[in-house]
Amino acid sequence: MPMLPQEIIAAKRDGQALTEADIKAFVAGITDGSITEGQIGALAMAVFFQGMERAEAVTLTKAMRDSGDVLEWPDMPGPVLDKHSTGGVGDNVSLMLAPAVAACGGYVPMISGRGLGHTGGTLDKLDSIPGYVSQPDGETFAKVTREVGCAIIGQTGDLAPADKRFYGIRDVTATVESVPLITASILSKKLAAGLSGLVLDVKCGNGAFMSDLDKARTLARSLVEVANGAGLPTTAILTDMNAPLATAAGNAVEVANAIDFLTGRHVDARLWDVTVALGAEMLVSGGLAASPDEGARQMEEAFSSGRAAEIFGQMVVALGGPADLMEAHEKHLPAAPIVRDVLAGESGCVTAINGRAVGIAVVALGGGRVRAADDVDPRVGFTNLALDGDAVDSETPLATLHADTEGAFEEAATALRAAYTIGDARTVIDRPTIIERIA
Ligand code: URA
Repeated sequence: MPMLPQEIIAAKRDGQALTEADIKAFVAGITDGSITEGQIGALAMAVFFQGMERAEAVTLTKAMRDSGDVLEWPDMPGPVLDKHSTGGVGDNVSLMLAPAVAACGGYVPMISGRGLGHTGGTLDKLDSIPGYVSQPDGETFAKVTREVGCAIIGQTGDLAPADKRFYGIRDVTATVESVPLITASILSKKLAAGLSGLVLDVKCGNGAFMSDLDKARTLARSLVEVANGAGLPTTAILTDMNAPLATAAGNAVEVANAIDFLTGRHVDARLWDVTVALGAEMLVSGGLAASPDEGARQMEEAFSSGRAAEIFGQMVVALGGPADLMEAHEKHLPAAPIVRDVLAGESGCVTAINGRAVGIAVVALGGGRVRAADDVDPRVGFTNLALDGDAVDSETPLATLHADTEGAFEEAATALRAAYTIGDARTVIDRPTIIERIA
């Protein structure tokens, strides 16, 4: 017999490990509404202070996975693989990663999310492609994944409904920042997607959810151990988010940047490093590569052969988008009425970029949400962002700004200049993009 909710809360408050029966009963009560918001908030706070042992976190994750639909992929010709990122700025990695892994023999049913806070969301980016159905029914999702090799969409069905209620309550009770709770929240949704391998991109730096390296490492270890404990082969990479990853930040502008990457017209170096490294891990988890080095070689070939671009184009068409998007994205992606450079206004070298401030500037332009119900403006954002270490003078652009009005342009230009630190012209920036692999 599981304990009453108040006894479970008291046990955790007093530092005890919860039993499997108690955790399952509590999650069942979250899902069916029989446990109150107050009780859920109290348990979250108890876990925040007392933590959870790995075995408890595995049980919690599995119980939350089982609170709704669990997808299955019977008879797929290859491993079913995905990535999760803790969220970044100018981070359009998913758009290149999914088709490249598909080109290497993986199947990628990628369920992506909307922007959160200052970080962008893949789903918002895809919604800037005219005609693209980003939330298809489950049957279409499965068909496109099987036939094309990847489908990047927003959530369909009822995956991990316990997390939806639990997260909403954590959000208003100051209990989001608990490692076991973040772990169970992220992984319950990924386990419910029926994957056979997963890679986690855990970002750290001023544009990340976890700015501190030690905290990011602790989260990455928890995610990797709990995912493997729940039976999902998973590795993680700690990556640098002290500056936007792409030279573009926004929605349509990041889709254009991804298409330019896939077709080889313009490839941002940091984006390349992260995409290849994550793909290599997915190929290893899925048994398609013997080592990350071999996986990296396969990923490079997927891009250089044009196969990843071809698959992305096929996915767009299969989900209702234009047939010539890859050849002529300018014709299809929505453009802002004002597109003008923001000049550095001083001479020197870019010594730091506040990634979080760039993300917030995109939100203020309308490219992200202030309230959950807001629509995003797909047209706005930045392109040609100057990079760390770039030499600038007063006439050099820090970025090209895409805005809806002159007022929004001026505000975002001021915010962008404030986000850049221009220092001594001789400064050399040596900060690795890939910080550490956690297996
Ligand atoms: N993202 C999630 O999905 N869950 C968390 O708890 C935190 C970030």
